[in-house]
Amino acid sequence: MKRLIIGISGASGVPITIGVLKALKEQPDWRTCLVISKGGEKTIEQETDLSLEEIQALADEVYDIKNIGAAIASGTYKTEGMVIVPCSMKTVAGIACGYSDNLLLRAADVVLKERRKLVLVARETPFNTIHLRNMLTLSQMGAIIMPPMQTYYNLPETVQDMTDHITGKILDVFGIEFHRFRRWNPGK
Ligand SMILES: Cc1cc2nc3c(=O)[nH]c(=O)nc-3n(C[C@H](O)[C@H](O)[C@H](O)COP(=O)(O)O)c2cc1C
Repeated sequence: MKRLIIGISGASGVPITIGVLKALKEQPDWRTCLVISKGGEKTIEQETDLSLEEIQALADEVYDIKNIGAAIASGTYKTEGMVIVPCSMKTVAGIACGYSDNLLLRAADVVLKERRKLVLVARETPFNTIHLRNMLTLSQMGAIIMPPMQTYYNLPETVQDMTDHITGKILDVFGIEFHRFRRWNPGK
């Protein structure tokens, strides 16, 4: 079984997290390890009809953000990497500085030190120079900075179509096919 850590921090974009967790539930070879910040709990309340418990139920392993001694705090716990979706600018700053004062930040720090894949669905608009500097630092360390940007070339008709598109882009990093992801096909 392959494990993927999913972090939810306090930025806008919880419907994307739900899309990723649901898609991974359909993958028999993958297990998800979920950790949610206090800010993440707030955005869950704000952006979805699902309760915290319903979102946690979509994951295989659920970790308390305060439990800095949990399995995912150690590089010896084998994972394929981590996706932080959505990723706030505060969490971006924490990772960029190595300031691992909660389990989500520590797990990201571990993924970087072990040279595993770290995808940050970093969300704020507009970005200030501090945000951009921190994201550059992380990109230079190998993290994939993937703001949930809108795309129109796939002809989305609904918000769900847009959510599916970014969900597909995230899963693509880990080689996971998402059946609702429409790839660019100029020949069609
Ligand atoms: C409804 C809501 C939406 C927010 N959206 C964003 C956002 O898109 N990007 C961001 O950087 N911060 C956003 N914030 C602010 C962060 O949640 C706040 O900075 C928090 O301290 C982040 O902490 P965390 O990264 O540990 O979750 C939002 C806050 C709320 C309540």
